[in-house]
Amino acid sequence: MRVVTLSEQDDFDGWRDAARGLIAEDVPPDDVVWQVGDEPVDLFATVAEPAPAPAPGAFSVPRAFLDLARSAILGSDPERFALLYTLLARLRREPKLVEDHADPLVRRLDRIAKDVRRDIHKMRAFLRFREVEDEGAPRFVAWFEPDHHIVRANAAFFVNRFASMRWSILTPEVSIHWDGKALSEGPGASKADAPDGDPTEEVWKTYYASTFNPARVKIGAMLKEMPKKYWKNMPETALVPGLLAAAQARESGMIARARDTVGGNSLIAWEALRDEASGCTRCPLYKPATQTVFGEGPVDAPLMFVGEQPGDQEDIAGRPFVGPAGQMFDKAMAEAGVDRSRAYVTNAVKHFKFEQRGKRRIHAKPGAGEIDACRWWIEQEQMLIKPKVTVALGATAARSLFGKVMTIGRERGRALQLPDGGEAWITVHPSYLLRLPDPAQAAEEYARFVEDLRVVGGRLAGL
Ligand code: URA
Repeated sequence: MRVVTLSEQDDFDGWRDAARGLIAEDVPPDDVVWQVGDEPVDLFATVAEPAPAPAPGAFSVPRAFLDLARSAILGSDPERFALLYTLLARLRREPKLVEDHADPLVRRLDRIAKDVRRDIHKMRAFLRFREVEDEGAPRFVAWFEPDHHIVRANAAFFVNRFASMRWSILTPEVSIHWDGKALSEGPGASKADAPDGDPTEEVWKTYYASTFNPARVKIGAMLKEMPKKYWKNMPETALVPGLLAAAQARESGMIARARDTVGGNSLIAWEALRDEASGCTRCPLYKPATQTVFGEGPVDAPLMFVGEQPGDQEDIAGRPFVGPAGQMFDKAMAEAGVDRSRAYVTNAVKHFKFEQRGKRRIHAKPGAGEIDACRWWIEQEQMLIKPKVTVALGATAARSLFGKVMTIGRERGRALQLPDGGEAWITVHPSYLLRLPDPAQAAEEYARFVEDLRVVGGRLAGL
């Protein structure tokens, strides 16, 4: 048994050096014990000689693996070092494994990395400094309790953002200090070590109260993005209930309903988002269109379908997938045994783009600029609904979800990973099936589409 001792919980370099040596020696994952500092070692393990460095170029790992490892190492899962080494060992035989997001090991590491990225974002968004007097000069001190080992990895962000201030960030595991020139590190702290309420908060609260507009607040984003856990450290959150209560009747109704959640997701948050989207002017498509066609379905749907854009009938009805493509979609869903009423159905672009020919409005394909302008809404919907599986119907949806051109033929039929870490699948758009002139080919393609839907329906059971 080999024992690898890492210096810290987030010791990526230590893990990488050890893993390289072990791989060079072909040490099986089961023969390695990973520990941090002087954590107790398995009694049957023997401390190994340091592993020799591998022959240069002996085994080159894909960049995607290193990116995954860099994030996952920061996770709080005690098995992460071993899991990453297991993946590394398998990569030798399966060089594309890291792209297979349906593989249970890859999936588990993806999830750790996703949680880490989220935690990094939370720290950036919700950490609040309090001003204290320190040797006659102001110092800004913040208390934060991360879920993962992200503090060192996040330090550069705070140095850049608050370069001219002297500040300290205290966390249970480690504290970091910036004196305007250099970053230093100290032991972990407790909340009692951090100051509570001071004039900085008053300034911040006054600012927040004067800018708060409950009719415009993005409750969806707020509830989603600001978990209660962080509220106690954020001065402005103490004001929110009072400010909301003082608002007009409409807002009072909103507050009451804000507490109604479906499967942990807020219905009011989704309604607020839909209402906001109804006034969208992010691109010129809103001008000739009748209305915004927002997504619809349960806010706790495990499955999200993303189409291209509303068609003529959807533009009039104000609902997605109700015209011919929608009927084709419904039929295929029923045949695949997937319940549409449990899915959230939306579009990459929320306004109908068309060319007027006489009395007819002919569908026109949305351009990259329109897709990008509308991506804001899809991202909000994804954050709110948090589907387990997202399905892109056609190339426009895939372009929107992945932020780049995806080839359906190449990507179809396998689980992919979205930039936010979620699982996605790509298939054709139902209107492609409607356009096929050859009945035999149409029948064949329709059967493939049904099969794709059956597969994604089946994925839900396994997640
Ligand atoms: N096509 C789409 O992509 N979406 C709709 O809502 C209707 C047709």
